[in-house]
This record gives sequence, C-alpha cells and structure tokens, in this order.
Amino acid sequence: MTATPTRGDKFSFGLWTVGYTGIDTFGGATQPALDVVEVVEKLDELGAYGLTFHDDDLFAFGSADAERQRQVDRLKGALKATGLAVPMVTTNLFSAPVFKDGGVTSNDRQVRRFALRKVLRNLDLAAELGAATFVLWGGREGAEYDAAKDVRAALERYREAMNLLAEYVTGKGYGIRFALEPKPNEPRGDILLPTLGHAIAFIGTLERPGLFGVNPEVGHEQMAGLNFTAGVAQALYCGKLFHIDLNGQRGVKYDQDLVFGHGDLQSAFSLVDLLEHGGPGGIPAYDGPRHFDYKPSRTEDAAGVWQSASANMRMYLLLRERAAAFRADPEVREALTAAGVTELATPTLDEGETYQDLLADRSAFEDFDTGAYYGAKGFGFVRLQQLATEHLIGARG
Ligand code: GCO
Ligand code: MN
Ligand code: MN
Repeated sequence: MTATPTRGDKFSFGLWTVGYTGIDTFGGATQPALDVVEVVEKLDELGAYGLTFHDDDLFAFGSADAERQRQVDRLKGALKATGLAVPMVTTNLFSAPVFKDGGVTSNDRQVRRFALRKVLRNLDLAAELGAATFVLWGGREGAEYDAAKDVRAALERYREAMNLLAEYVTGKGYGIRFALEPKPNEPRGDILLPTLGHAIAFIGTLERPGLFGVNPEVGHEQMAGLNFTAGVAQALYCGKLFHIDLNGQRGVKYDQDLVFGHGDLQSAFSLVDLLEHGGPGGIPAYDGPRHFDYKPSRTEDAAGVWQSASANMRMYLLLRERAAAFRADPEVREALTAAGVTELATPTLDEGETYQDLLADRSAFEDFDTGAYYGAKGFGFVRLQQLATEHLIGARG
C-alpha cells in the first residue's frame, strides 16, 4: 500500500472546491478564479480520477447558449486529453437571487417551474458526459421562520419535483441515479431534509424510490451533532449510499469544509474503515467515488490550494492503511469477539422460535442472573477503542 493516489482509488473533486476563491460572509475573494481546463489537468496530475461540477461552476448563470457550449466543449477537450471522468453532476439552485427562497420548494410557483427546467437541462448535460450520479443539495430549500414555510406543502412540492426528475431520466433512458444531500442549516436557517434519517424516510415516499439514494457529507451530519460513521452505516445498510462528500469539521458550528481528516480524526478513521471493509456484521463496503467537498482555506495561495487537494487524498490513503492494519490485527479480532461485537449478528430468537417459546424459556427470565452484571461482565469497549486509537496514530503494526 502507498499514500500516492491512483485512478483506482476513485478520488473526485468538485470544481467549486479547488475553485473556491475565498468569498465568505465577511470578506471577498483572496484567490483568483481557476479555469476548468487547468483544474482538470492539475487533478489528473495529482492522481484524482474525476471532476464534478454545478452547471453554474462551468458557465455563469444566465450564460447565452454559445458561451455555455463553449465551456462544455472546453471541459470535454480536457477530459479527453487526460482521461479524467465526470462521475457526478449537480445543479446550482442556491446562488442566483431568483433562488432566495429555494428552487423546487420556493413559495413562488414561477421559480419552482424555472428551477425544474434548470435541473432538466443539466440532466441532459450529465447524461452527455456519462455521469452516473446526480446530486441534489437543497441548500436554499428551507426557511428562517416557522410561519414562512408550510412544511407539508414544501415536502409535497419536493416530492413532485423528485418524481418528475425520475420520470424524465426514465423516459430518456439515462442511466442516472439521484443522491439527496442533507444539511441541517446554512445558508437557510433551517433546511428541509436536514439529516440522513430525514432524507432516507423521504425517499420511501417517492414514486421511484430505487432511483434515489443519499450523498451524505461529513461536516453536515456533524453540524447537527450526529455520528457520521453511524449514519453512513445505516445508509449502506439500506442500500442508499449512492455518493459521499468527504471533508473535515470540528464540532457543532458553521460548515467548515476542512480537508478530510483535519476535523474529527477518530470519526474519519472509523468512516474509512467502514467504507473500505464494510461493517463486521455484514454491512457492505462502498465502491463509489471518494468525493471531496472541501474548501481550501482562504488563507492559502495557489500552491496551498493544490497542497490541500493532495492532503485530502493522502489523508484518505493513510487512514486506509491504518484501517487495514486494524482489521488484520489478531488482538483486535479477539477484542471484537470479547466485546460481543460479533455476537450482535446472532438473532435474539432461535430459528422458528415464537414468543410462546420465549415465554416458556425460564433461562431467559426467571432463572436469568441479572445481578451477575453488577461489578462484572464488562464489555471491554474501552480496550477496543484504545486498540483502534493506537492503530490510528500508528502505535501498532
Ligand atoms: C455545501 C454543500 C455543497 C453541495 C454541492 C453539491 O454545504 O455547500 O455541501 O457543496 O455538496 O452544492 O450539490
Ligand atoms: Mn458542506
Ligand atoms: Mn457537499
């Protein structure tokens, strides 16, 4: 194993990530904008396999058809020259003033119709470029004030939009699946479908649920104080992890979009372990793109931007090495068994056992010694965590 990225590692980057110019609420750009051709060439050189983008990253909102086509052609030329792929495309329904109350759930019906047209047009481009996944991040789908948004109606309009998009790709025969990206807040005070759980429940209400999965982002679940690895495990368990946004976040605060692993490192370790190996009880590993949705800090210069891009891939590969060592360690295996982690995979009832059988089983209740758990029968979870941490910091082979 090596910490040098190759195409086989399936690392992809958003055009808006390395292309971030540093604009935030308190200040303007600290870097010049990057050209898409330069980004493709540079990502290829650094070992990435894919580029992703919003329509507006490639051609400015409102561009005339000729300008739009010119940029698409330039991108295609660069992809051809390098062999880089476009595994995912997404639509900007949040920057232009028209989307100030959202796109597909704006209170303004004309805006909703415009938003749908913008997405449909972008789906054609995604299909043309061979993207398999279409991410839908509803950053402006939400509100600041409870009275401002009828949540029932907003969810109905969200469903209406998703059903239309699914019908469109089905009718066109596009091999595209959709990935909803949850986020609790920012830019809206509260965003609809704020967490993985909300999104997965919503997908179950759609007409073609099989075409929809999730695109969880490390920082977004952590902004809500949630355990990212556990959420991703549930998405994998449901067969819904269609895509993933890797980055770093330190605690419950604004969306930091740090380099992957530069936030909660323990969580990054358990995440890579899960993505690479699956869960011990049979949750499948993830085989899609390892997509970085981070921002180079606005303190950096041009060299720093590309160093930060490399840092994401290097952190992933280093954690992958540590996770492989963790899994291979006989002491870890023994500790997992001792902690009952493997026992949890055994069903609680025997094959064919009924509740009558359970009621008749005196060893399950009447004769069961609950007192034996006082001062004894520890699970050894701390030992397991210590072993994981020692592997993470390279203190064990
Ligand atoms: C954010 C989001 C976005 C989306 C992107 C893809 O918090 O800004 O993560 O970066 O991932 O818009 O749709
Ligand atoms: Mn984010
Ligand atoms: Mn994201």
